Amino acid sequence: MNPLLSKLQPYPFERLRQLFAGVTPDPALPPISLGIGEPKHPTPDFIKHALTAGLGALAAYPATAGEPKLRQSFTDWLQTRYRLALDPATQVLPVNGSREALFALAQTVVDASASPAPIVVSPNPFYQIYEGAALLAGAETYYVPSRADRNFAVDWDSVPANVWARAQLVFVCSPGNPTGAVMPLDEWKKLFALSDQHGFVIASDECYSEIYFRDEPPLGGLEAAAKLGRTDYKNLIALTSLSKRSNVPGLRSGFVAGDARWMKQFLLYRTYHGSAMSPIVQAASAAAWNDEQHVVANRDLYRRKFAEVTPLLAGVLDVQLPDASFYLWAGVRGSDTDFARDLLAQYNVTVLPGSYLAREANGVNPGAGRVRMALVADTAECLEAAQRIVQFVRSQQK
Ligand SMILES: Cc1ncc(COP(=O)(O)O)c(C=O)c1O
Repeated sequence: MNPLLSKLQPYPFERLRQLFAGVTPDPALPPISLGIGEPKHPTPDFIKHALTAGLGALAAYPATAGEPKLRQSFTDWLQTRYRLALDPATQVLPVNGSREALFALAQTVVDASASPAPIVVSPNPFYQIYEGAALLAGAETYYVPSRADRNFAVDWDSVPANVWARAQLVFVCSPGNPTGAVMPLDEWKKLFALSDQHGFVIASDECYSEIYFRDEPPLGGLEAAAKLGRTDYKNLIALTSLSKRSNVPGLRSGFVAGDARWMKQFLLYRTYHGSAMSPIVQAASAAAWNDEQHVVANRDLYRRKFAEVTPLLAGVLDVQLPDASFYLWAGVRGSDTDFARDLLAQYNVTVLPGSYLAREANGVNPGAGRVRMALVADTAECLEAAQRIVQFVRSQQK
C-alpha cells in the first residue's frame, strides 16, 4: 500500500458522524442541516437542457484540453468578470470540479525528491483537500492561521523564512471557506513577491467568487496579478467552478487558468490521469459560463437570505455578514464540538464544529470556539434553524 495514504486525516463529516453517534435529536423537530456546503438552489433549466441536447456526442473520446468552444467560454467569462484577456489555447484548462483540480495540481507541482523536503502552505482553517493533496504528493504541510481580529485575513507575515524557502505550493482560498474573507490586493502583492523570491506556485481557489454581499465583486487572483502588471501570471493558477456559481455540484465542472508554462505540465499530468471532461458536460458548461443572468439571480437569493438570517444569529453569537461565500463563521461560547452536539440533541440542527476544519498549529486550533453554518437551504428553513439556534443559546445562558 502507498504509505502516504495512512497520513490522511478523517474528513470533517466523518468526525461529525462520530461526534453525533449516540445522540438522539428531539423527534418533535424536523432535522435541519447547515452542515454540508452543498448548493441547494435549483439548477437552471437551460443547463439541464444543454446537458440532454449533448447526448449525441457520447460516441467519441473527449480531449483532455477540452473543445475550443468550451475554452473560449472560459476566456470570455474571465474577460466579462475581471477584464482579463487570456489565451484560450494556452492559459485555460477544463477540470471536473475544482476539488480534483486542487488535488491534481499538487501532484503536478510538487517535487517530492527535493531536499530538504518540500512544504505546501495552507490557510488554517481550510478546505481539507489541500492537506490530502499535499500529503499524497509527498510534501509536508504548514498551516497559516486566519486572524479573527483582521476580518479573518490569513497571517502570511507569521510564516518563518525557512518555511518559505522550502515552500513549493501555496494554497489561497479567496473568498475563504469557512471564513468568507476576500484577500485584498496588498496581500496578493506580498505573496507574489514571496513567490518571486522562493519560486513557489500559488493555487488560488476561487469557487465562491460569485456569491458576495458587498457592492464590489471579490478580487480574483489573476485580476490581482494583472493589476500589478503581472500579465504572464507567473507561478499563479486560479481554480474556479460552476458548482456554486450555477448550482450544479453534481455536474463536476470547473476550469483552471493562469501561467501557460504550468498549464502545459498540468495538461500532461491530466492526460495520464485520465481527467478529460465528458462532452455532454463540456456543452452544458459552456452554456453555463456564457450566461450571467442566472448568476445574478442566484446571488440575489443568497443576499436576501443572509440579510434575514445574519441579524438573528448576531443577537446571540459572535457573527457578521462575510465578504462572500455561503457560510457564516460564528464564534460560540465554550467548546465548538459541545455546541454542535448539544444543538443537535436539543434542536435537531446540524452545524459543523470549526475545530474540524482546522489543524492545531503552534499550540492553537484557529477553528476552535467557532462553528460553520452553510446557508444553502431555502430562506424559510435557514430562518427556522436560526430561530432554534437563538433559543438554544438563550437556554444555555440561563
Ligand atoms: C474551498 C473549496 N474549494 C473547492 C471546492 C470544490 O468544489 P467543486 O469540486 O465542486 O468545484 C469546495 C467545495 O465545497 C470548497 O469549499
